[in-house]
Amino acid sequence: MASTATLLLPLLLSTTCFTFLFSPATSALCNSDDKRALLAIKTAFNNAYHFASWVPSTGCCAWYDVDCDASTGRVTGLSIFQDANVTGTIPTAIASLPYLRILVLHHLPGLTGPIPSAIGNLPHLVQLTISFTSVSGPVPSFLSSLQSLTLLDLSFNSLSGSIPDSLSLIPNLMSIDISRNHLTGPLPLALFQNASQPAYLRLSHNNLSGEIPASYSGINFAQADLSRNKFTGDATLLFGREKQLQQVDLSRNMFQFDLSNVVFPESELILVDLNHNMIFGNIPHQITNVPNLQFFNVSYNRLCGPIPTGGQLARFDSYNYLHNKCLCGTPLPPCN
Ligand SMILES: *[C@@H]1O[C@H](CO)[C@@H](O)[C@H](O)[C@H]1NC(C)=O
Ligand SMILES: *[C@@H]1O[C@H](CO)[C@@H](O)[C@H](O)[C@H]1NC(C)=O
Ligand SMILES: *[C@@H]1O[C@H](CO)[C@@H](O)[C@H](O)[C@H]1NC(C)=O
Ligand SMILES: *[C@@H]1O[C@H](CO)[C@@H](O)[C@H](O)[C@H]1NC(C)=O
Repeated sequence: MASTATLLLPLLLSTTCFTFLFSPATSALCNSDDKRALLAIKTAFNNAYHFASWVPSTGCCAWYDVDCDASTGRVTGLSIFQDANVTGTIPTAIASLPYLRILVLHHLPGLTGPIPSAIGNLPHLVQLTISFTSVSGPVPSFLSSLQSLTLLDLSFNSLSGSIPDSLSLIPNLMSIDISRNHLTGPLPLALFQNASQPAYLRLSHNNLSGEIPASYSGINFAQADLSRNKFTGDATLLFGREKQLQQVDLSRNMFQFDLSNVVFPESELILVDLNHNMIFGNIPHQITNVPNLQFFNVSYNRLCGPIPTGGQLARFDSYNYLHNKCLCGTPLPPCN
């Protein structure tokens, strides 16, 4: 072993040197327009120390936080994260990176102001993450011009206003997270209508209201987290045997519907949290057929009747059933 390593090491080193000296991807290849845009972004952030590696004499594809297409030298990814010293508004110069596919601005508490309309001019953007920042203002309706977007994460900001209906116009959008903001108003009427894959919707900790639109019955949700809002009405349309639902959290709303006739999807369901609503009826025995259920909480509702026994239900203690109208049986006191 030792002798093999001794033989290989110089070979590896010389290969690395060769690559470093002669591969255009490492330094030379860096589109000059993109470099100019990145330097403008650095300036907009007051030359924060975070951007110390962004110096004009070097190739921008080697700069911290920057990803390039190795064959064209165009900037395809910009991920700035975890630095309280990066302060200011979102630089409009980001729109001068026309080949950007992934933009991540994450854990930047000093990032303030609204989402600038320039962000709408990125036709190749697949992933937009602006999370854990102090960004405020609306969720802009111009985001619908990001026609390549599949993932939108605007969680943990100070956004307000309603969710624009125009998000429905993004054809392949399948994951939306705008939890932990100050959103109000209803859910968009036609979200995810053409989604070919299971959809992810996370909107917890806002002040959203109204009912779940009837058109959502056709959505194949993998995850739906609507917890801690002011939603009302029926949520049974999220369920159904044929769905691929993994996690559904409707806790701390004002949903009001009969649970008795709900059929839980069995294949992938692991979490059902319905606590603190006004859900009535009884718990369907069919829930005992869900093989991988790990969390089931129906406390603080208006349910009645015996708690089904069997399957995974034995895992859940009384705190998951307390404060209902007349639920009874293990782990609650026996039914009379
Ligand atoms: C932020 O700035 C302070 C003060 O200039 C410095 O001590 C600290 O290392 C900086 N943090 C980062 C992540 O650059
Ligand atoms: C969804 O599909 C319908 C029917 O094919 C089409 O008319 C509509 O434009 C599509 N919507 C989006 C946002 O792609
Ligand atoms: C929701 O509205 C209430 C009452 O207006 C307010 O106190 C609370 O902060 C709001 N919550 C969020 C997450 O915006
Ligand atoms: C179920 O919800 C209730 C009410 O919020 C809470 O007290 C309880 O801890 C929850 N159960 C679990 C296992 O988290």
